[in-house]
Amino acid sequence: MSTDTTPTTTRADAREASTPGSEWWRSAVIYQIYPRSFADASGDGIGDLAGITERLPSLAALGVDAVWLSPFFRSPQKDAGYDVADYCDVDPIFGTLADFDAMRDRAHELGLRVIVDLVPNHSSSEHPWFQEALAAAPGSPERDRYMFRDGTGENGELPPNNWPSVFGGAAWTRVTEADGRPGQWYLHIFDSSQPDFNWENPVVWEEFRRILRFWLDRGVDGFRVDVAHGLMKKEGLPDIAEKASGDGIADALMSPEDVPYWAQPAVHEVYRDWHRVLAEYPGDRVLCAEAWVEPLEKAALWVRSDEMHQAFNFSYLSTPWSAPKLRAVIDESIAAFTGVGAPSTWVLSNHDVVRHASRYGLPEHTAGPNAGIGPNSPDKPDLEIGLRRARAATALMLSLPGSSYLYQGEELGLPEVIELDDHVREDPTFHRTGGEAYGRDGCRVPLPWEADAPAFGFNGSGSSWLPQPEVFREYARDRQEGVEGSTLELYRAALDLRAQRELGLGSVEWLDGYGEEVVAFRNGGLTVLANLGSTPVELPSGDVVLASNAIDGRAIPTDTTVWVA
Ligand code: NOJ
Repeated sequence: MSTDTTPTTTRADAREASTPGSEWWRSAVIYQIYPRSFADASGDGIGDLAGITERLPSLAALGVDAVWLSPFFRSPQKDAGYDVADYCDVDPIFGTLADFDAMRDRAHELGLRVIVDLVPNHSSSEHPWFQEALAAAPGSPERDRYMFRDGTGENGELPPNNWPSVFGGAAWTRVTEADGRPGQWYLHIFDSSQPDFNWENPVVWEEFRRILRFWLDRGVDGFRVDVAHGLMKKEGLPDIAEKASGDGIADALMSPEDVPYWAQPAVHEVYRDWHRVLAEYPGDRVLCAEAWVEPLEKAALWVRSDEMHQAFNFSYLSTPWSAPKLRAVIDESIAAFTGVGAPSTWVLSNHDVVRHASRYGLPEHTAGPNAGIGPNSPDKPDLEIGLRRARAATALMLSLPGSSYLYQGEELGLPEVIELDDHVREDPTFHRTGGEAYGRDGCRVPLPWEADAPAFGFNGSGSSWLPQPEVFREYARDRQEGVEGSTLELYRAALDLRAQRELGLGSVEWLDGYGEEVVAFRNGGLTVLANLGSTPVELPSGDVVLASNAIDGRAIPTDTTVWVA
């Protein structure tokens, strides 16, 4: 039985424009929906848009401001939809454009904004442009929309340079020309099914303006921009220093080295162009950069006033569970983003990283966000410690000024799924590294909604594209609704208080005197204390309005965050 409820309070019209400086996205909590794993109305085992529409009331009741949907566009699904074959249509596994419209209308009715995912660095190899490029000759306009180059070596048998793919292996694949002979090579920073566009070509710019307008005309409130630090490559495509070429997504995505395919200055012109496109539309539409760039001052370049509006704070996501490190990253984030007039964002989980309820239960040295965990990983998370810390981390994050991103299922305290058989794993990272990196399937398993329903309420048929573990029953939403102390009720209470006290629009005033292992500050009339140390910390006077874990008497136990009014 579904316990979804429509919220009784009516929100402001989701499409109202705000006064400059108080645009909705500055303080919004944005919930990431991973469509294939959220809710499946058709019962084919893969989530869909109609499933999302049915379940939206539960997100409104949770208290988030917006949803961001990972790609649902036409795609052969070689990288779960981040390989787009048609940017302006819905893949049949997710439904139709009419299903999208219905979902958007329902979201807006409930006061939720809708952000879609834009993938401009590469298309699918099944995109008509790439098919035309394969059929055309070297040097043709069709090839010039992608990154085709002649190979090196005596007969062009070696790739044009030594760039690695983020997913493992080389970033180049050789094609067979129309006459049957081995020919040029094309660049793919990700899988070979994801050829990189040539952003030096104005035709590509024009096409993406068209795509932006297509979705803006369809009423979306913004875009999350995939690989926003890619797109432009360094002139001459020079080799990269070996040490910058990691063999996992984390190393290759977030390298402090000068990687010739990341963060090239020319990329900013693209976002200035898009900023102008968004400005043609009424209301506050938003661009959010997925740019794995360090340090934070560099990431902040993506959100200068004439570019994007937000950038994911991956430095925050990657910070280990340590009070001094958290204080430092909070300070650095606020300073870096304030420096360009943008709000900081905060995020702990997404579809590319080990869920934070498991990550915080790992020894620190294995806590790298993107590595993935599987049956043969040397370290397994301690789930009790992990969940306790995850709840404390979320309570800390939601008390910070700026905008926060949540990933579906974290409000249930879901752990990473470790015991997935090799043959069910779909992440290209797993396959391209010969299983050395487990990759990201473990955070993508379909959600449990109802403990006693088929597929735990993900659908009515019981099928599920990745198998759900039995333990998901305990985490099912209906087991947590209205249950005091449940992770779901903690999220709800935190989001409610955050909205009431406008914490997202506030500021951090650090408090001294609580010791090295405590993160302590004031925001919105609240004292926020996160005790990461092993010694209990005395509660200050006042009422505890939120506690991430049970408090006994006047002491804040280890790995606990409290909000005191
Ligand atoms: C980042 C996305 O979040 C990830 O899931 C995807 O595999 C790569 N970009 C390639 O599009």
